[in-house]
Amino acid sequence: MLNGKKIVLGVTGSIAAYKAAFLCRALIKRGAEVQIVITPAGKEFITPATLSALTQKPVVSEFFTANDGTWHSHVDLGLWADLMLIAPATASTIGKMANGIADNMLITTYLSMKAPVFIAPAMDLDMYAHPSTQSNLEKLKSYGNYIIEPTTGFLASSLEGKGRMEEPDAIVAVLEAYFEKKTQLSKKKILITAGPTYEKLDPVRYISNYSSGKMGFALAEVCAERGAEVFLVSGPVQLTTNHPAIKRIDVESAEEMRQAATELFPNMDAGILCAAVADYKPAGFSEKKIKRNGEILNLELVPNPDIAAGLGKMKRCDQVLAGFALETDNAVENALQKLQKKNLDFIVLNSLQDEGAGFQVDTNKISILTAKGEKTDFPLKQKKAVAEDIVDVLLSL
Ligand code: C5P
Repeated sequence: MLNGKKIVLGVTGSIAAYKAAFLCRALIKRGAEVQIVITPAGKEFITPATLSALTQKPVVSEFFTANDGTWHSHVDLGLWADLMLIAPATASTIGKMANGIADNMLITTYLSMKAPVFIAPAMDLDMYAHPSTQSNLEKLKSYGNYIIEPTTGFLASSLEGKGRMEEPDAIVAVLEAYFEKKTQLSKKKILITAGPTYEKLDPVRYISNYSSGKMGFALAEVCAERGAEVFLVSGPVQLTTNHPAIKRIDVESAEEMRQAATELFPNMDAGILCAAVADYKPAGFSEKKIKRNGEILNLELVPNPDIAAGLGKMKRCDQVLAGFALETDNAVENALQKLQKKNLDFIVLNSLQDEGAGFQVDTNKISILTAKGEKTDFPLKQKKAVAEDIVDVLLSL
């Protein structure tokens, strides 16, 4: 998995810097190409000569080479790397990364990095536990960086606690698992529907629901990150997509969503139908704005097509189809009925009863029911993490 991968290894001023040499060797042994970027404090703990001998490349530390003034481009490194790993990462480096304090080559490289970034903190237990460090780590997570948690044990300060940098072999295993995950869905095409639909009443009004599209967009991202080509058919939402493997098709009404999804589905390996499609639409569309006249206004509504059921009918045995169910009562029973009626392989159940689950929020709490009769309950998680669980189930099928 690491063969041929280009890795920028950032080394900072912690006693655990000596482990960077082992880390370097382990990465190189697996075929990776390693470029070291070291902070000034890092050089106090391990010499650039050691690291340069191991990587067979000059170690990058200063913005300019002292003897000839050659400029080291952090931007080039950001484009070159398949991954950046900062191990060990001190509290100071973590703080600078979280706040964009670009006063050394490692931080400028980090800020220019196009590749995913993994951070292995190493520090004294109290520094690690400090709210400042913890909030910086949370910030880095929110930027999409991955934290390789330190372990608990004997520390250089002779205290015992959480703060030991994870062992080099374990760090390498994390990176291997990451690259392995990225290929799980390669060559697969996945249709995802997301967001609400708008059903027009007149030129200025529509019927809709509170769906934000966050869950569907998180699913699209996770599928793309695992190597799939994603076709995201989205109703009107305030979200952006920037993964190159996500092709976004914006629609407004259920009928437009049905058309797009039905056209795409025969060429897909899987479909995840996450959209909150309006069940009904106005029977007629008024070309002119409906006027207020103080009388009761009765709206006549007609059912929208059930996109999921339509795709369920078209589904071949080499395709997987998943849907969502948002229930307020008899949740499991109703979800199972939908699973059968729509010919789904699994259904993701979320209940409005659970705090933090459902519309608009960034978290969700789900159960997954499969056509084989299995039921798995998951705790409340960020929607991205929920999407990871859903994609794991998709892969298992
Ligand atoms: O029947 P219900 O609306 O509860 O089913 C929810 C599931 O069916 C979701 O996966 C949703 O995206 C899908 N659905 C659909 N077309 C509809 C209604 C729901 O695809 N008209």
